[in-house]
Amino acid sequence: MVCVKLGKDIMSYNTYYRRINRIWMTGILIFGTIFFVIQVKFNTSGRHWWNNKSITIILNNLNIPISNKHGTRYTSGFYSHLKKNINHSCAFPPDNLNGFEPLNRSVLSMASLINNFPFMKNGHYRPPKCTPVQKVAIIVPYRDRKDQLKVFLNNVIPKIHRQQLEFGIYLVQQVSGAAFNRGMLSNIGFVEAMSDMNYDCVVIHDVDILPEDDRNLYICTDNPIHMAVKVQQFDYQLPYEGFIGGVTTFSKAQYQEINGFSNLFFGWGGEDDDLYRRILYHDYKLIRPFEDFGICGSVLHKEALKSSDRRKYLSFSAETRRMDGLNNLTYNSLKKGKKPLFNYILVDIGQDND
Ligand code: BGC
Repeated sequence: MVCVKLGKDIMSYNTYYRRINRIWMTGILIFGTIFFVIQVKFNTSGRHWWNNKSITIILNNLNIPISNKHGTRYTSGFYSHLKKNINHSCAFPPDNLNGFEPLNRSVLSMASLINNFPFMKNGHYRPPKCTPVQKVAIIVPYRDRKDQLKVFLNNVIPKIHRQQLEFGIYLVQQVSGAAFNRGMLSNIGFVEAMSDMNYDCVVIHDVDILPEDDRNLYICTDNPIHMAVKVQQFDYQLPYEGFIGGVTTFSKAQYQEINGFSNLFFGWGGEDDDLYRRILYHDYKLIRPFEDFGICGSVLHKEALKSSDRRKYLSFSAETRRMDGLNNLTYNSLKKGKKPLFNYILVDIGQDND
């Protein structure tokens, strides 16, 4: 009797554990499948930095009320849900990007460039079939670099075009004479572009540092974006953590809030370092594109003379940021015009008085 009972007990004990094992195995299988699906989704969509960063401004532009400037992060799932609900919005992230493509360094004639980009009218483009997520002003501080300008147009226009953004290009040329003042020319570009159209976003763009990957988007988000991360002339490395030269994007509100660039930096260098301090002072964080999207080619030129004053002006950053910038900008506009591929503004900004 005892043996029979013990036998039965052992059997039900075995059945019980077999059942528990089966439940465990099924659980692990289901959990594993869910985990695998999430991984695949993350690896295909999460690789793009803009899915994981806050995109408040973009959403605001689409008239969707969203929280404050620094806090919220939106998941790709949340965004694709929105995307489905926004009629006629151009795909974002854009659908037809090419990824990395080495710079095309050919210097084409202006006539061929105009011919190659017939969609540009008066230095401006708007996607005809969908509503772009942002209107972007590309501001190019410029002097005497005709060939570089042609290479710039030939590389930059098709990239932004593929990104399905509305954009205008503003070339701000300083008359010869005084030392080049990149910061002040950028401020002038901002003012001129905004008086032309109500842009959402400005991109301060050197004429000779050119993104090579169209996944590096010319857009603005709730913090400024530094696009020129791995630049050829710096051996494809960030020269230092606070480097924000080359190509940087700001929403209209951000640029106004930080009071733009200082106007004091005549000659090469320093104006971007001062700008970085303004960004940090206003409690923004700098966003950089994911992985290698930030690779940029350099179009070589003679090195400009380094400004001996830049360190002096930098030492006054904290004092100057409030009263020197957009709010004390004065300039003499000598010529303004709309060419097929860009808006052109020739300015006299005087001399460094020091
Ligand atoms: C200058 C910056 C410049 C950087 C990289 C710094 O020393 O102050 O204006 O962008 O070097 O060339």
